Amino acid sequence: MDAPVSIIEADPAFRADVLAGLAAPIPAIPARWLYDRRGSELFEAITELPEYYPTRVETALLHRYSRSVAEMAGRGAAVIEFGSGSSTKTPILLEAVHPAAYVPIDISGDFLRDSAAALKERMPLLPIHPVEADFMKPIDLPQAVAKLPKLGFFPGSTIGNMVARTAVDLLRAMKDTLGVGAFLLIGMDRIKDEEVLIRAYDDAAGVTAEFNLNLLHRINRELRGTIPVDAFRHHAIWNDRMSRIEMHLEALRDVEFSVEGQSFAFKAGETIHTENSHKYGLRDSRLLLRAAGWGVATEWTDPDDQFALILAQAEAPRFAP
Ligand code: AVJ
Repeated sequence: MDAPVSIIEADPAFRADVLAGLAAPIPAIPARWLYDRRGSELFEAITELPEYYPTRVETALLHRYSRSVAEMAGRGAAVIEFGSGSSTKTPILLEAVHPAAYVPIDISGDFLRDSAAALKERMPLLPIHPVEADFMKPIDLPQAVAKLPKLGFFPGSTIGNMVARTAVDLLRAMKDTLGVGAFLLIGMDRIKDEEVLIRAYDDAAGVTAEFNLNLLHRINRELRGTIPVDAFRHHAIWNDRMSRIEMHLEALRDVEFSVEGQSFAFKAGETIHTENSHKYGLRDSRLLLRAAGWGVATEWTDPDDQFALILAQAEAPRFAP
């Protein structure tokens, strides 16, 4: 008898990434597939965990310094957010900047519509121009904001998900989108005590473990997978050479399973690498921005230097030296 046909139409890109990733010499699946509906809910829960400091610290920095951002980047600018906007952080910035318009950019039209609607309720007079697009590539902004000064917003240390080469590609695309002279307010997580980092990505309540393991449930659900999820465990490690936290799913015993009819085998101890979270020292963050044509205007951190909120400005091309 044939296996039951999945009712959910599988995303062909998810299918391709999972099949290639599981067969790779170092098995790995791109982190973006962690964020289905359930995954996004679990990530929201992570941001409220006592061990997960980034959201709390960045939110406090925004409360404290948004007015300074407004003074430097100019009230009445157009705020361009890369990502559909968090319910908590975005209004803190917008209420200080009093922007002439707000442009959230996201690849998911659903997220975009939901968060735009929520914001409209809070700030009924603010013109919102959502753009459904992949912000890894330069984007033509709506005509309505063409002549306004620009302030890009990329909070959450989302940049940390990317390896340096991809991060620079993204920052360069953002510069192309926003133009020379534009500002970018970006959150980056700092290098810190390894134990603090590990606890933030392997919390006592097991929420991060559930978030990571949800990827296997998603594969089973959407790609006709037969993965015995209880044969895997969440594992978070600090990779010092790469300056990043890595999340893995580690096989607890030898396992065999199939996905979309293809067979896979993992030996006990072998892992699937599922997410990177790069951390940046003071000079690392400056270099990363500079490599993409951004100069640092101001940096704000908390007293323990746990997290940095950086205001960068897109530099004109220089020919010498
Ligand atoms: C959404 C990429 C910023 O790296 O801290 C949190 C994702 N994964 N806990 C991060 C995440 C596990 C998060 N980012």
